Amino acid sequence: MIAVGFTTSKKLIAMGRMQSSICRAGVAGIKDVGPMLQAMLPEYLFSLLKSIGQTASEHSSKAYVVGGTVRDAILGRPSLDLDIVVEGDAMAVAKSISPADSKKIVFNRAFGTACIPLDDEVHIDIAMARAETYSAPGALPTVIPASIQEDLLRRDFTINAIAASIAPDDFGTVSDPLQGLSDLEIGLVRTLHDKSFVDDPTRIIRGIKYVNRFSFVFDHHTQDQLELAIWEDAVKTISPHRLTDELRLLFIEEKPWGAIWDLAQFCVLNSVWCYLTIPHESLPILQKLEDFEAMLTEYLPDDYSIWLARLLLFFANVPPAKIADGLSVFDLNQRESRVVEQFVLVRDESLAAIKNMNSPKDSELYGLFSPLQPEIALTLVALRGKKANRVPLQRYFTRALNVAPELTGDDLIEMGIGPGPAIGEILKRLRLAKIDGEVRTREDERAVAQNILRNLAEDVETERKV
Ligand code: CTP
Repeated sequence: MIAVGFTTSKKLIAMGRMQSSICRAGVAGIKDVGPMLQAMLPEYLFSLLKSIGQTASEHSSKAYVVGGTVRDAILGRPSLDLDIVVEGDAMAVAKSISPADSKKIVFNRAFGTACIPLDDEVHIDIAMARAETYSAPGALPTVIPASIQEDLLRRDFTINAIAASIAPDDFGTVSDPLQGLSDLEIGLVRTLHDKSFVDDPTRIIRGIKYVNRFSFVFDHHTQDQLELAIWEDAVKTISPHRLTDELRLLFIEEKPWGAIWDLAQFCVLNSVWCYLTIPHESLPILQKLEDFEAMLTEYLPDDYSIWLARLLLFFANVPPAKIADGLSVFDLNQRESRVVEQFVLVRDESLAAIKNMNSPKDSELYGLFSPLQPEIALTLVALRGKKANRVPLQRYFTRALNVAPELTGDDLIEMGIGPGPAIGEILKRLRLAKIDGEVRTREDERAVAQNILRNLAEDVETERKV
């Protein structure tokens, strides 16, 4: 397969620039985000936000909502994560908040943070206002208590460096020392300083995520810094764990195609390991993958992993002999590693088999797809290219996969077939015959089983004579 070129996609950037000219007029002048927070949050969360502000005041501290919460409220996008920063004793504030339905609070004292999971979807993060220093590129930062202004200065992008007070006396009042509101208005993703991507190269992936999620663009200087950091191998300093976490988040974005394309165009992953390139035509391939997933939602198993199916694309050019090196770039769980490994090992042969399929019977589809994890089956059909078509997948997942013989191994033993490998072989052939509608009733199955057994016995006899 041919990898995409390594140059920055000018066309994509130009497209992004056009979209970003849809201005959010007036955003730069916002002084009070209170009404926007109220519009974005469910009533109980808005009340909780106010009571956290009140509690902080009672502890002689001041609380702010920051980052994505403020950004999304201004953009009018729904968000259920509350990022709160406290000037003062954040841990005391976290401890004294115990919403009735909160699960256990998770404290990280080294970072001065507490996470309150309200339910599977809603999290409240409370952190002390802090400044950070990085001992080495890509390392986790060392933190010291600081003011909200200093706290905003340590962040990734100006659009994430806006705070709003949640104190009772000035609820909603905006702090925007880095002109994040102006960048939100014109649709710019801009770092706060030149070392930002080197200090924390996960910001390269985060930046690509925001540019694509909001149809924003990088400001020119930021894009230069991003390309320079990649060129200087900054991405290699990200630990496999953090790299995997960031990609997981990126790949489950609503429409991750543009971001995945940008990852390839900016050489983000192949700067870590040269084989991590995506095939030509990845945008239509990704669209097909998404289309297949939507069509088969009801039929895919619960552990089907959307992010993993997208990661497989980056393994489309990995030679089987190099799979161990490829896996060591990421921090995958056991199942994920198994799926990636199987994909690389079977990819070329299965792809050829899919391409050569000519009006296959359902039993052939079963033979081809059933040994494959579903992420692999979908990705391979999407990779098939222009002719990729949904029908074989649809027939496999909706019909062939769900057909099984009525007879069990015990039934076969009762029929006098001795325990041994013949049982498995008969059940397999029975299944294929049933998939193709050649047997229907239990009686049909018994007759076919006897037939298969006779054939197997004849085969053994012939082999003995030979
Ligand atoms: N942050 C940062 N650098 C990082 C990660 C996070 O500066 N590498 C800061 C940003 O200010 C960000 C905030 O921490 O807004 C919270 O991080 P996170 O929850 O990951 O991002 P959100 O802004 O909530 O964005 P998303 O909608 O993608 O979750």
